[in-house]
Amino acid sequence: MKIVGGPSSVELARRVSDALDAPIISVRSKRFPDGEFYFKFEEKVAGEDLLVVQSLYPPQDEHLVELFIILHTCRDMKAERIRAFIPYLAYSRQDMRYLDGECLSSAVISEILEHLGVDSLYTVDVHNENVLKNYKVPAYNLTASSDLARYFLRKGLNEPFVIAPDDEEIAIKRAELAAQAIGADYDYFVKKRDRYTGEIRTFSKEMDVQGRDVIIIDDIISTGKTAANAASILKQMGARRVFVGVSHALMMGDAAKLLKDAGVEEIVGTDSVMNEFAKVSVAPVLAKAIKER
Ligand code: R5P
Repeated sequence: MKIVGGPSSVELARRVSDALDAPIISVRSKRFPDGEFYFKFEEKVAGEDLLVVQSLYPPQDEHLVELFIILHTCRDMKAERIRAFIPYLAYSRQDMRYLDGECLSSAVISEILEHLGVDSLYTVDVHNENVLKNYKVPAYNLTASSDLARYFLRKGLNEPFVIAPDDEEIAIKRAELAAQAIGADYDYFVKKRDRYTGEIRTFSKEMDVQGRDVIIIDDIISTGKTAANAASILKQMGARRVFVGVSHALMMGDAAKLLKDAGVEEIVGTDSVMNEFAKVSVAPVLAKAIKER
């Protein structure tokens, strides 16, 4: 197997290469003055088993076009097998038509990836696992929850408690896995989102967090409102310290300030999104999954 590092995930591709002991293919890419993307393999890939690494965090449309061009080139240059590692699978919110006339964004992505010859897909903590049902090729959802939780062990946690900031089954499962990884208790909040305004409300509930260190585990931080709501409630209930462990720290606008103001001590993301919060790598979970299959 050889690794192809897309522009959004150059560092992650190196980590994947180390974790799998598989070489990185030499490539060249650039942007033309008008913004269009150019890509070239600097070595032959005909007959090769390729793993393309490209996360789709914002600007997701640019990262998507880069991915499409890379995959097309892999297929066009006659690679034998093309696997895609897309830790942040953008457009995974719209798995179905929630309102009449809406687009099915996740189906657009799956149809294009399959058309471009992807043999299998690996992603991390996808927002909605239903989107993976769109794929006719194998599509695997991995989780960074346990590794995120383990990061916080270095903080000398006091009676650690893990919380899911909403009551989706998948969110509770992530919290459970994180709690198991560090021997903590866990629970969840109920959150309601208005489909038209996007406004969210988080409901307080009885929970034994007084004097304890709490880790909020979530898949995505976008505006930060979900985690900030949870953090504020936890602080009001007497939590000692509140941390956030998130698979995809998109951190749009003033999300970081919102979380800090809500009492969050540290935000820890993964290298699914290459920014200052990327403190945990998703390379090990991918390597394990690839070796198991
Ligand atoms: C919600 O269902 C997700 O799991 C995240 O909690 C949500 O996407 C975070 O968004 P925001 O940071 O904008 O509240």
